[in-house]
Amino acid sequence: MLKRKDLISLDVMSKNEIDEILELSLKLKKGKAPACKLKDKTLGLLFEKPSNRTKVSFWAGMIQLGGHCIYLSPAEIQLGKREAVKDAAKVLSRYLDVIAARTYSHETLLELAKYSSVPVINALTDLLHPCQALADVFTIFEQKKKFKGVKLVYVGDGNNVLHSLLYAASKVGLDIAYATPKGYEPDKGVVQKALAISKKMGSVVKGYTNPKEAVVDADFIYTDVWASMHQENELAQRKKIFKPYQINSALLKAAKKDTMVLHCLPAKRGLEITDEVMDGKQSLVYDEAENRLHVEKAILYLLIKANKK
Ligand code: CP
Ligand code: NVA
Repeated sequence: MLKRKDLISLDVMSKNEIDEILELSLKLKKGKAPACKLKDKTLGLLFEKPSNRTKVSFWAGMIQLGGHCIYLSPAEIQLGKREAVKDAAKVLSRYLDVIAARTYSHETLLELAKYSSVPVINALTDLLHPCQALADVFTIFEQKKKFKGVKLVYVGDGNNVLHSLLYAASKVGLDIAYATPKGYEPDKGVVQKALAISKKMGSVVKGYTNPKEAVVDADFIYTDVWASMHQENELAQRKKIFKPYQINSALLKAAKKDTMVLHCLPAKRGLEITDEVMDGKQSLVYDEAENRLHVEKAILYLLIKANKK
């Protein structure tokens, strides 16, 4: 049973909680969860950064469950500038039933959750993107019907998406490898936690610098942008460093014949992934994006249920 106030990071969640989210997501996707209703509940969407998938999937999902949404754009929210994060958290908790927040700093999200009396969902911070990673492992399970012995390989920047994938994969017992350039590895603390979790699950976490080595026997290859939303000014320099990390036909050939490709999107076509791969038969990127909706509906329902007053 999901028993927590907030969904901030997957490393602190139990395997049972994650399984419950994935199982309900599947029922919702199949249209077989008629009891999931959030009538008269309101979700606040607090976004310091732009979003397409996260904003729209949470919004549409809440409407589909019978609830309502209020969106506060980056220009409006100004957490810590227009008012203290703690004041915003305390006030918004009086109006809303649940908050999904996308912040620059992870600390801002932690503070928001600390002072909010309603559940807070991490809709991406510079450190983590848990809702994305849950949808990703859901997409993998949809294809393989299992996690054990399945290998996911992330190629690119050691960023928020990789951090949450490390947690999600190790929690469900999916093998995960990553190939990142020197100096762009994932956070050491995150890797250590993922390693400890994967040991208990009997799965593998392994880091590489050479993408061709990492993708050997990959069932799934995953990438993300080379410069995240807070790093756009580094793009010119990053383009040079990350060039060998592009997901293209040559890299796909170094994996298996039926290796599938994932990308959290938005993609910079022609940089981290070629058009050929993104539009090719092995690409699952739009299924993956759709699954954000089903998984977030499950998260909303279970969190609101767990925090019923
Ligand atoms: N994948 C993802 O979170 O996309 P958005 O930034 O468009 O929400
Ligand atoms: N790493 C990317 C993910 C976007 C969904 C970013 O933070 O911009």
